[in-house]
Amino acid sequence: MGEIFTRSPRALAGTGPPARYRRPVELDGIDPQRLPVHVGCVMDGNGRWANKRGLPRTQGHAAGEEALFDAVEGALELGVGWLTVYAFSTENWKRPVDEVRYLMRFNESLLVRRRDEMHERGVRIRFAGRRDWRVPRRLIRRMDEAVALTEKNRTMTLTIAFNYGGRAEIVDAVRALVADGVPADKIDEKAIRTRLYLPDMPDPDLVIRTSGEFRVSNFLLWELAYSELVFTDVLWPDFRRENLFEAVREFQRRDRRFGGLDV
Ligand code: IPE
Ligand code: IPE
Ligand code: MG
Repeated sequence: MGEIFTRSPRALAGTGPPARYRRPVELDGIDPQRLPVHVGCVMDGNGRWANKRGLPRTQGHAAGEEALFDAVEGALELGVGWLTVYAFSTENWKRPVDEVRYLMRFNESLLVRRRDEMHERGVRIRFAGRRDWRVPRRLIRRMDEAVALTEKNRTMTLTIAFNYGGRAEIVDAVRALVADGVPADKIDEKAIRTRLYLPDMPDPDLVIRTSGEFRVSNFLLWELAYSELVFTDVLWPDFRRENLFEAVREFQRRDRRFGGLDV
């Protein structure tokens, strides 16, 4: 049990919440001792949100920003230590060039506009994905700046899966194994895990996908082997911290066995 659920960072610090701290009512029904350590989000449905309003798809991406930062606030309120969001997949390059260009610029400006606020909140920003493949130089610079600014923060780690594909991550790990000259009989799960993009990142306990699609679309393939998956019809731009809390309640109703038996 202790391995599966860990206490919130606040509880781990041993100091407890400040005397005046009131647990917000919207956290009612959530057991703070059994929080997911790591939550992943497939932020899907921006285009459909915009279509429904007669807006260009890009307006849906823009509206997704508020959802993302409300989810970050919610995760901080909960005391979740790791939040990973899927922002751009290795397959999203197939989209029209104008949309891809918009997404590159949008992510660049989002990093510049939000990094100080994230830093103040104690959020460490990191990226998972193929950074040196097709991503514009300027955006890579912004990514590096955000990582450097926030690298000492430990309240929460926000990992942005950008130019990320689960299969690409495994391919890259296999390439690293070969480059390191690891013989076949020395290849085990640990040898692969230590060559993933962020080897110290715990596996996600809970993965939420919005927009009513029941698939993982190449998100964290290795890492989500035993994640609890929660699907919601909410389109990403409408997602708010309450939706995160509801997913955590659903997570806490699940019975995780990891291939074993309940005792
Ligand atoms: C998710 O929303 C954002 C990205 C994949 C970049 P979509 O753009 O996939 O929106 P839908 O799924 O077409 O509605
Ligand atoms: C997954 O959404 C990728 C991101 C949210 C960044 P997609 O919209 O790309 O996935 P599919 O095409 O519906 O499987
Ligand atoms: Mg989509």
